[in-house]
Amino acid sequence: MTEALQEIHAFLPCRTPQQWIDNALANQDLMLIDHAHCEKKAASTALSLMYRYVDNTDLLNKMSRLAREELRHFEQVLAIMKKRGVEYGHLTPARYAAGLRQEVRAEDPGRLVDVLIVGAIIEARSCERFATLAPHLDNTLADFYNSLLKSEARHYQDYLRLAEQANGGPVTDRVREFLEIEHRLIIEPDTEFRFHSGPVQ
Ligand SMILES: [Fe+2]
Ligand SMILES: [Fe+2]
Repeated sequence: MTEALQEIHAFLPCRTPQQWIDNALANQDLMLIDHAHCEKKAASTALSLMYRYVDNTDLLNKMSRLAREELRHFEQVLAIMKKRGVEYGHLTPARYAAGLRQEVRAEDPGRLVDVLIVGAIIEARSCERFATLAPHLDNTLADFYNSLLKSEARHYQDYLRLAEQANGGPVTDRVREFLEIEHRLIIEPDTEFRFHSGPVQ
């Protein structure tokens, strides 16, 4: 296991439950469609930060690169879907990102700190899920997910560092608050399977 992945396991409040892995393996088409949405959304979140915080050069650079990488991931998922005859379409949004964003403060600088912490958590969970799923998948998808987890691990670190910068110091306490919410979203039964959902019975 890479050092980056070890750090992510130490950061997250829990591993992905077995039930979710079973759900994912039984719904691989849906997983790919939702994964494509996640990559697109990740790019769009980075772009909206670039529109809002135009005076933060470090953030502009990191988010610009991140947005490009997420869009590249999006294209890669689409290509795999096309090869497999999986059609892209709309999906109802997952509870995960909404559940985390609910806790984001309304006013800056708290708002920026929180959005960046949520970004770090989503990247960390994505990385953990790619790593967890890879050994169960066919070679094409396993190679793809193993390649993705490296960039998502770096995105996690970028977000966390930007959050500390925006906060002018450590964000440990605030991260802990968000991770408590994340823990519930990951272990509590969910109604619909998504890439970041809880287990569906
Ligand atoms: Fe990505
Ligand atoms: Fe990412």
